[in-house]
Amino acid sequence: MKSAAEIMTMQEFAKAAKEKLPVESWDYLIGGAYTETTLKRNRQSLDRMAFRPRVLNDVENVNPGIELFGHKLRLPVIMAPIGSVQDFVEGGGAVPTKAAARFGCYHMLSSVCMPFLEGVADSVDYPKIYQLYVRGNAEWIDAHIDRAIAAGYVAFCFTVDLDYYSRRERDIAKRYQSTSRKTQASGEEWQKRFNWEDIKRIRDKYDIPLILKGIATAEDAVKCVAHGIDAVYVSNHGGRQLDHGRGGADVLPEIAKAVNGKAKIIFDGGIMRGADLVKAMILGADCVGIGRLQGLAAAAAGEEGLIRMLEILEEEVIASLGMLGVETWDQLDPSYLHPAPEVTPAHVMSAFPLLEEGY
Ligand SMILES: Cc1cc2nc3c(=O)[nH]c(=O)nc-3n(C[C@H](O)[C@H](O)[C@H](O)COP(=O)(O)O)c2cc1C
Repeated sequence: MKSAAEIMTMQEFAKAAKEKLPVESWDYLIGGAYTETTLKRNRQSLDRMAFRPRVLNDVENVNPGIELFGHKLRLPVIMAPIGSVQDFVEGGGAVPTKAAARFGCYHMLSSVCMPFLEGVADSVDYPKIYQLYVRGNAEWIDAHIDRAIAAGYVAFCFTVDLDYYSRRERDIAKRYQSTSRKTQASGEEWQKRFNWEDIKRIRDKYDIPLILKGIATAEDAVKCVAHGIDAVYVSNHGGRQLDHGRGGADVLPEIAKAVNGKAKIIFDGGIMRGADLVKAMILGADCVGIGRLQGLAAAAAGEEGLIRMLEILEEEVIASLGMLGVETWDQLDPSYLHPAPEVTPAHVMSAFPLLEEGY
C-alpha cells in the first residue's frame, strides 16, 4: 500500500481506497440512487464541455485562491459534508477538518457524522462550516445553530434535498446501512415538514451566513436570494437522492443567471479533477464542493491522503488556468468553454480512465 506522499495521481486514491475498504463501505461511498442516472449525468455534464484556451499571456503567477465567508482559501474548495465518515477513516469528521486547516480550504461537517459538532470544533482552531439535517422542531434547530455559533463555525448549512432518504440499491442489495444511518435516522418527518417559512424565521433571527444545499433550479435560487440566503449550494447530492435529475454542470448556468451576484454560489457533483473545478468556476460557481474524491482520499491515506489530494488538485487547477491563459478567476468568462461530445461513457469513476487499464 502506497503512503500519501507516494500518491501522484487522483486515480491512485480510487485504487487504494477500493483495496482498503470493505465492499459495503466502498459501495456506500461511490453509489447513487436507483438507476444512478443522476450520478452519471454529473460526470457527463462536466465532460460535455471543452476549453477554449488563449495563449501568449504572462501566466507565471497563477493564483487560484478566493475569499469566502470572510476567510481566504488557497483553493475554492469545500470538502463537502459526508455522513458516516467514521466508516471510511479512523477519526471520522475531525480528519477532513484537520486536513482543511492544514491545507487552507473549508470542511463542511455533516450532522450525521462522528465526532459531533463540538468534538470536531475542538479538534482544530480553524474556520469550519456546519451542515444540519432537520430532526426536530424550531427549538431543536435553534439549539443546533446556537451550538454551532458557540463552537466558532463561520457558516451554517441546511441540506434540503433529502426529504426522503433515497433508495441506493448497492446498499439495499447487501442489506447494508452506514453507522450513522443505523443510529441517527429517527425524526426524519421534521425534515419533510421543513419549508421556506422556517428559513424566513431562521434568517430573521440569526446573522450567521446561511447556505441552502441541494438547490437545482433557477426558481429555487430566486427564492434563496429573496430569503437573504448567503450561499446557494447547487447540488443533487452527488446523484444519491432524486434519480433522473439533470447533471450538475447543466444546472449551474441558469442558477448563476438567477442569482446574478446577489449570493455566493457553491457547486458540487462529479468534481474529480482540477479541470472539473475550473469548468464549474467558469459556469458561475464561487467555490466547489468535493464529495467522493474526499472520501476516496480519506479512505486511502487519512489526513495525509486528503492533503495530498488537495495538493494534486491545486497542481491540476494551476496548470489548467495557466494553459487557459489566465492567472486569476476573474479573468475567466463563459467564452472559455465550448460544447463538445464526451469521449467516454460517463460513470462514477470515468474521470480515471487508467483504472480500466489496470494501473
Ligand atoms: C458517502 C457520502 C455521504 C454523504 N453524506 C452527506 C451528508 O451527510 N450531508 C449532505 O449534505 N450531503 C452528503 N453527501 C453529499 C455530498 O455532500 C455532496 O453533495 C456530493 O457527494 C457531491 O458529489 P460528488 O461526490 O460527485 O463530489 C454525501 C455524499 C457521499 C458520497
